[in-house]
Formats: sequence, structure tokens, C-alpha cells
Amino acid sequence: MDKFIINGGNPISGSVDISGAKNAVLPLMTAALLVDGETTINSVPDLRDTRTMIRLLKIIGAEVAFKNNSLAINASGVNNLEAPYDLVKTMRASFYVLGPLLARFGEVRVSLPGGCAWGPRPVDYHLKGLEKLGATISLESGYIMAKAKYLKGNKISFDFPSVGATGNILMASVLARGETRIENAAKEPEIVQLCEVLNKMGANIIGIGTDKITVHGVDKLHSVDIDVIPDRVEAGTYLIAGATMGDITLNNCNPKHLEDVIDKLKLSGANISSTENSLSIEKIELVEAVDVTTEVYPGFPTDLQAQWMAFMSIANGKSTIIDTVYHDRFTHIPELNRLGADIQLKDNKAIVNGVKKLTGAQVMSTDIRASAALILGAIMAEGKTEISRVYHIDRGYDSIEKKFQSLGADIKRINQ
Ligand code: UD1
Repeated sequence: MDKFIINGGNPISGSVDISGAKNAVLPLMTAALLVDGETTINSVPDLRDTRTMIRLLKIIGAEVAFKNNSLAINASGVNNLEAPYDLVKTMRASFYVLGPLLARFGEVRVSLPGGCAWGPRPVDYHLKGLEKLGATISLESGYIMAKAKYLKGNKISFDFPSVGATGNILMASVLARGETRIENAAKEPEIVQLCEVLNKMGANIIGIGTDKITVHGVDKLHSVDIDVIPDRVEAGTYLIAGATMGDITLNNCNPKHLEDVIDKLKLSGANISSTENSLSIEKIELVEAVDVTTEVYPGFPTDLQAQWMAFMSIANGKSTIIDTVYHDRFTHIPELNRLGADIQLKDNKAIVNGVKKLTGAQVMSTDIRASAALILGAIMAEGKTEISRVYHIDRGYDSIEKKFQSLGADIKRINQ
């Protein structure tokens, strides 16, 4: 298992290119299963999760080629309608094959994902939504079996605007008969891109980017060539690095997707300027404590909660960080405290008492975003930090150590 060794305190400077968004590319890869032909996806981040999805698509029978951040997926030969436990347990987004395979082939078998480091993460909205579209769902030996001769449009109203359930229902309903109305739909940029790509494939989706989406089913979709949107979570992570360690510029990002994060950074004292596709941030002399509460888009993303906590750990004063999307997503707290942070947890609220400095220590990654928070903590800290289990970070951040090295941080990967 690889480790990162980071000698903290080095100032950073220069520019960094933001990669395509993990949470956009994964559903787009499964949307390719809707097409009897080839889909080309460009600006694909080279991540462990992208590679896991490639393995899954190949198991299902698609032909996949991945070269120079471009993916060609040909789903003409799909012949195995099953997502096995071994893959689904390592990447929950595997569940995204459910909607498209059911819609195109009338049946699918997908392992139930099980729990995760930040709580139970159920899939009931996905399943209830598919039942509304006429699917018969059963559970056999840990696998969801979904069947439907054909899917038929209906009204589906989510109790919470789930990203994954909205994506799965969209991919199922584009080939359903008649009209599907999704209420309380997710509005995240990654869902907006999925809708736009499905329309480019020939689907008929209206209300894109709102919480009421209407889908008029069509008989067939066709091949497309698409570019993945930039990763707003990766961009937010580098913005926090710049705010604490030096003036940097982020290229190939979309500042519009980060408005709430930019507002919060400005409140903490950051000077930020932007163009249509770049952001520059100056190091803050004295970081002010700023409370955040995670919300669905366009609110503050839960995927930046851990990184914000690392940032606030060296702020001037006390802040509170509440996660309303995932109430248990706090495994980074004990690790940040090992670096000298002073953070206490009460239910889904973290109370962060800013300290003067962090100090290097041995810490452990627990999930993708928690690991990013540890890297931020380590580059801010005095002395050496060793981060183990970095396979978590490799799931969601393309070349993170190379990008930080190019900015001047002292970070090394050790293969063990
Ligand atoms: C996606 C993102 C993840 C992000 C999250 C919230 C991907 C691959 N992952 O995860 O990085 O943190 O959105 O922005 O895009 N829920 C249910 N039942 C369901 C589905 C969800 O109760 O059937 C609950 C969840 O437990 C959670 C909330 O709804 O409390 C939001 O989850 P959801 O938006 O579905 O997250 P994911 O799609 O799994």
C-alpha cells in the first residue's frame, strides 16, 4: 500500500490544471450503456474509480479503450447484465449501471453496495423510483434483481434530492414509454451535464438544472462525443491550499460551480479573482474563522467539508461545520487532531477551535475527501507527516502528488 511523505511548511506558487470531474464521468460512462454503438468521452480524469468503472463496463461486455484522457466505450456487445459485489463494494457509483441496463435490456442484477465509512448510505430512492417506472425489484443473495418488459413513465418525488437516484432514474426514464416527472431532483452540475449528454444522445429532457425534471421517453439513443466538466471538488481543494500556502492559479475550472465556496473563502480573508475558466487566489495572512453548513447544490458541498475543516483548524478563532447531507462523515476529525488540530464533534456538528500551527504526524486516510483534508493539513503543518492508505485519494484525485510537487510542495509517494 502506498504512502505519502509530506514535509510541511513549503510555500506554494504557480498554476495547476484541474482535471475532469469524477462525479460527472462515472454516470456518463454508464450512460454509454444506453447506446448500441460507441460513445467518446474526453477530459477523463485518470483515477482509480475511472479504472474500476472501466473494469465493470468490460465485465458487462462493453469494449473500452482509455488513452490520453479519452475513453471510447462501445456498448454494442453487452452480454452480461450484472455488477458483481467485488466491484460495487469498492465503488458505490457502480450502482449507476442499474438504470441504463434495465432500460435497454429489461433486466439487471447489481450487488447491494452495503455500508460505507460515513454511514449506511441507502439506495431506497433508486429502487422505489424504478418500481414507479414499472420494474419488479427483488433481493437475492445480496443482489438487487430488477426486471421490466418495458419501463413506463410516472411521477417520482424524492424525499431528498439524491444525486445518485436522480442520475439512475434519468438514465432509466430516457428509454421509458411516455412521460416521467422527477420532483425534488438533484441540481448538481454533474447531473446537469448528464441531462445535457443524454439530450445530445437523442433523449428529450426538460427542466435541466431545476428540481422538476420532465423526461419524454424515446425509442433509441445514438453515439456522441463529449467533454467532461471540470472537477469542482478538486478545484475547491486547491483553492484552500492556495489560501493557506501561497498565491496560485487554477486553470480549466468553472468558477460558476464554486460560488458558495468562493464566498466562504472571501469571508475567511481570501483575495480571489476569476475568468470564465480560471481562478487565482492569494495566500491569506490571518485566516478568519468561518462557519459552514453543507447543503445540496448550490450550497456548500459535503465533498469539501473535510478540506474546509483542515482550513479552519488554523483559523483565528472558533468555527462550526455542520454536515446536513451525510451526518456521519467525520472520520477525518481524529486524524486532523493528530496533527494538532482542536476539533470536537457533537452529532453532525464539528466545533473547530483554531490553533496557531499544526505539526506533522503519522495519519491514516479513511475516504477520498478525508484524505484530501489530511494532505492540506500536512502541507500546512510544521515537520513531517506520513499519510497511509492513500489508495483512497487515488480514487478521486488525478496525480495529486505531481500537481502539488509542481506547485512547490514537498510531497513524495512511497511504494511499499
Ligand atoms: C454523490 C457523490 C458524492 C457526494 C454526494 C452528495 C457521486 C459518485 N458521488 O453521492 O461524492 O458526496 O453525491 O453530494 O456522484 N439517500 C437515501 N436514499 C437513497 C439515496 C440517498 O437516503 O436511495 C440519502 C443519503 O444517505 C444521503 C443523501 O441522500 O444522506 C444524499 O445522497 P446522494 O445525493 O444520493 O449521494 P450519492 O449519489 O451516493
